[in-house]
Amino acid sequence: MSAKWTDPILLPIPESFESQRLIIRAPQWDDGIKVNEAIRESIEELRPWMPWAQQVPTAEESEVVSRQGRVHFLERSDMMLYLLHKTTGRFIGSSGLHRIDWQARKFEIGYWIRTSSSGQGYMTEAVDRITNFAINVLQANRIEIRCDSRNAKSARVAERLGFAKEALLRSEKQGVDGSLRDTLVFAKVRGAEF
Ligand SMILES: CC(C)(COP(=O)(O)OP(=O)(O)OC[C@H]1O[C@@H](n2cnc3c(N)ncnc32)[C@H](O)[C@@H]1OP(=O)(O)O)[C@@H](O)C(=O)NCCC(=O)NCCS
Repeated sequence: MSAKWTDPILLPIPESFESQRLIIRAPQWDDGIKVNEAIRESIEELRPWMPWAQQVPTAEESEVVSRQGRVHFLERSDMMLYLLHKTTGRFIGSSGLHRIDWQARKFEIGYWIRTSSSGQGYMTEAVDRITNFAINVLQANRIEIRCDSRNAKSARVAERLGFAKEALLRSEKQGVDGSLRDTLVFAKVRGAEF
């Protein structure tokens, strides 16, 4: 371990920040009910891409996921971030910084949006702000977005924000339907994209 290594649990990381239209924050106790409502509404759009969305979860299961998300955020092992509309307080979707490598300062952004809030640029806005948070607050060196090569809407979010398309990894993992999928890798890297 290098002399400069700081255990990430010591890092002062805000739990909440804002973009133009959104509050972006760590999960809180009792968020489960609104998350569950959004999943219920969006299950048909989530199912093809999200392994956890093969069946509608119960509200209690969504509360467990939210609470675990909060605990992981506090531990700095994974940073789930919920998106709420600034003026209405409505739950819009979920994103976050995952597969964190604190030593390399590498993060992977994931996301899903509730169907009734899609097509209005909310996720692009959130991912842009989370990228900016990772760069400026977390001193990120590399921020990745990975998606199934067939997931055009997801790839468009990365492309719209100027992430570089680095690779198409063939037969990289099993898709949710059990077939092998190709994975697109997008990234922003310090010294290149920022
Ligand atoms: C991937 C996903 C989040 C994209 O959602 P989205 O609503 O298309 O993304 P945004 O909220 O950024 O909206 C962008 C769309 O709104 C339009 N738009 C309207 N106003 C906009 C604005 N102010 N800024 C940017 N885009 C705007 C864009 O043209 C774009 O539509 P297009 O792709 O048809 O051109 C969504 O499809 C989803 O949740 N899918 C299921 C889960 C999933 O696949 N997650 C990713 C796994 S890798």
